[in-house]
Amino acid sequence: MNRVEIVALPGDGIGPEVTSVAVDLLKVVCKQYNTELIVTELPFGGTCYEEYGSPVTEEILDKCIKAKFVLLGAVGGPQWDDLNPDKRPEAALLQLRKELGVFANLRPINVYPALSSASSLKKEILDGTDILIVRELTGGIYFGKPRYTSEENGDPFSVDTMKYSRSEVRRVAKVAFEAARLRDGRVCSVDKANVLESSRMWRKSVIELSEEYPDVELTHMLVDNCAMQIIRQPTQFDVMVTGNLFGDILSDAASMLTGSLGMLPSASIGGENGLYEPVHGSAPDIAGKGVANPLAAVASAALLCRYSLKLEAAAQQIESAIISVLEQGLRTADLFTEEPGTKLVGTEEIATALMEIVGKSVPQTD
Ligand code: IPM
Ligand code: MN
Repeated sequence: MNRVEIVALPGDGIGPEVTSVAVDLLKVVCKQYNTELIVTELPFGGTCYEEYGSPVTEEILDKCIKAKFVLLGAVGGPQWDDLNPDKRPEAALLQLRKELGVFANLRPINVYPALSSASSLKKEILDGTDILIVRELTGGIYFGKPRYTSEENGDPFSVDTMKYSRSEVRRVAKVAFEAARLRDGRVCSVDKANVLESSRMWRKSVIELSEEYPDVELTHMLVDNCAMQIIRQPTQFDVMVTGNLFGDILSDAASMLTGSLGMLPSASIGGENGLYEPVHGSAPDIAGKGVANPLAAVASAALLCRYSLKLEAAAQQIESAIISVLEQGLRTADLFTEEPGTKLVGTEEIATALMEIVGKSVPQTD
């Protein structure tokens, strides 16, 4: 049996509920592939602030860096919104991403046929949608300096800086081009090059790199147009690569193609490290009620198998379990539309159904 250590950071709100479903399932599936998963759970975000007065500690960061692979739930909540910016739960997440060096955030937008009625868009528009958003994650306006608040003639103001260097753009674009080679061979780079200097650098750097990928078709789209095109005709996209802020916004919009933000997983990769987290937030309004959709966390666990553990079969097993659960008609509240043949259930019922499915589909080993 191979032994692999990972860190789980359940975090705040619904984070712990959805992470525990993902961790339990991950352990069972990994065992089927001869891998014993050792999971160290650590506090993170608001929960960590309550315990240590800081949303993350050096020791916790060190443990994540040592483990290399991290599964995260969600962070944030209204009770921590008024803290100093560096004490906010979100600050810990940004620091973790930066320290792990996970510069490429992959957000696959899979449209599950069973959920086509849960989306706010028409089925005909959604059919055939399969997008991979590659969001730059450790640069851009999230991290650019200077960044400060001051005052001018009695008028307070704040500054953020959107900065991209050629090397930052190239390394994330490379991930997009490589991914496209394994898919439909198309990359759409999204920027605001008609206005922003940093976007002109972005576009120029992507074009330069594209010379190494003559087999991949490269197009460019302005971010405002892209927001509209995602909704107008999502099937036109294969791989989309974009900066940190634009990727944050566009991926929330694209999540509605799947029916719910509660379905969207993400993998953040860079070097040997991997950080896996659902795209959704901590949803404090439904936390602790047992109604949260754990499928984005579960799908993130599948991505961990794929990209970090290199257990592609395990990843596919988890992904097909998600499809089976949906085909059985089980729906958490975020997905429930009263469609005949569906049933409104809570987190626990989804967890039990997933376990049953992976238990039945034990792979052949010798
Ligand atoms: C996301 C989230 C984070 C982000 C927040 C919680 C800092 O919205 O992962 O999309 O903006 O990156
Ligand atoms: Mn976001």
